[in-house]
Amino acid sequence: MAVEFLVHGGKALSFRCFILGQVGAAMQDKDTWSGRFAEPVADLVKRYTASVGFDHKLAMYDIQGSLAHAQMLAACDIISAQDLNDIKRGLGQIENEIISGEFVWLLDLEDVHLNIEKRLTSLVGDAGKRLHTGRSRNDQVATDVRLYLRHEIDELLGLIKALQLALLDLASQHTNTLMPGFTHLQVAQPISFAHHLMAYFEMLKRDAERLIDCRKRVNRLPLGAAALAGTSFPIKREYVAQLLGFDGVCENSLDAVSDRDFAIEFTACAALIMTHLSRFSEELILWMSPRFGFIDIADRFCTGSSIMPQKKNPDVPELVRGKTGRVNGHLVALLTLMKGQPLAYNKDNQEDKEPLFDTVDTLRDTLRIFADMVAGIAVKPEAMSEALRQGFATATDLADYLVKRGVPFRDAHEAVAKAVRAAETKGRDLAELTLTELQSFSKLIDNNVFAALSVSGSLAARDHIGGTAPIQVRAAIARVRKLL
Ligand code: ARG
Repeated sequence: MAVEFLVHGGKALSFRCFILGQVGAAMQDKDTWSGRFAEPVADLVKRYTASVGFDHKLAMYDIQGSLAHAQMLAACDIISAQDLNDIKRGLGQIENEIISGEFVWLLDLEDVHLNIEKRLTSLVGDAGKRLHTGRSRNDQVATDVRLYLRHEIDELLGLIKALQLALLDLASQHTNTLMPGFTHLQVAQPISFAHHLMAYFEMLKRDAERLIDCRKRVNRLPLGAAALAGTSFPIKREYVAQLLGFDGVCENSLDAVSDRDFAIEFTACAALIMTHLSRFSEELILWMSPRFGFIDIADRFCTGSSIMPQKKNPDVPELVRGKTGRVNGHLVALLTLMKGQPLAYNKDNQEDKEPLFDTVDTLRDTLRIFADMVAGIAVKPEAMSEALRQGFATATDLADYLVKRGVPFRDAHEAVAKAVRAAETKGRDLAELTLTELQSFSKLIDNNVFAALSVSGSLAARDHIGGTAPIQVRAAIARVRKLL
């Protein structure tokens, strides 16, 4: 099986990795727990229980965690300085082997942890066997996943910001581009295209806040919990935490090895980001349809049809919408994984990785592609304002106009509803009725009503924080630009 992937251990590296299902007798070392069992594990069971096919993605974090653990063991006189040197040298070589693609991953060795540990022992002998002192794979894997996720969260925050900047750039050009705002997908009131875009900016702002908050709970060190109860060695957990850049340690050893809240919480954040982008995608798809014709998406985000020569399909937003289902599925998978688990660690937890990794990969690609897609949106203001001429978008403005002349709102609403019905019968917009026609619905209407009925007047009138008036949207853009 060949897998290509990226590892970020401070630097982003790409390497190829081969997993060997079968190993020759010469390579096959004694099983890690062979002392306990009378017969070897069945081949199918080996494949069923192995995680190296996917958890090799954690390799660089596993090495990082092992280095910090070994450094602490030496500082606490649990292993010798010579052992520490050997471990560092061996892990350094393993890192190079992994990067260059020489490292041989063995399915027989179950997971990333045992593969690296076995290779270390074959390189440096007894020092390699001492590395696991005061540690278990239970606290080791929990640490690796947290290191991985912390790194990915930081990357994702950068990508959210890039998308926000793309939105701001587009919005800045369209504070005076009028379009209908919709409720129930029916024309509601005039808004600017910038105002609409800025709604997504706000969603992404909350998404970033959520990730930053989630990171606090990710960034705690499980190591030292060992299998579940802690260790009898005189370890210094805070020292390891400091070496690895954690904000502190997980304070209960049982919780440290069994907690996957942080992964569930992250996936919930990711599902929400995808949900926001899915809504946006749905709008892009609608707006690109000739029935709307509000925008065009750059060709590089679309595909054609194998049969219909005229087609230009918005594949990317459609896939974002589709992939949201996949990430939502991962959230449910992780919640379900956890719901019946007794304390402390259970092998069920090995199943956390694929949903988590796929969530990260899907979200990363989606954010990247989305920022580029937003930057490439071509806006068609004529189609937007044409749509504003249908649907009586300024009916509320007429009601407000009457209210400002002393008519109680409910009565104004009733009068305007009648005016809309009459205009509809005549096939005209409210602004296209004559003053006399309008006055038949209220004596309080005079010539300045047409200013209130204009779409730009309607827009400018919503002049308060959060409103669609161009001056307000420009101020909103300026405010958030400063924050970014
Ligand atoms: N591959 C395992 C996982 O992903 C590592 C921990 C195994 N611990 C154990 N006690 N079997 O969870």
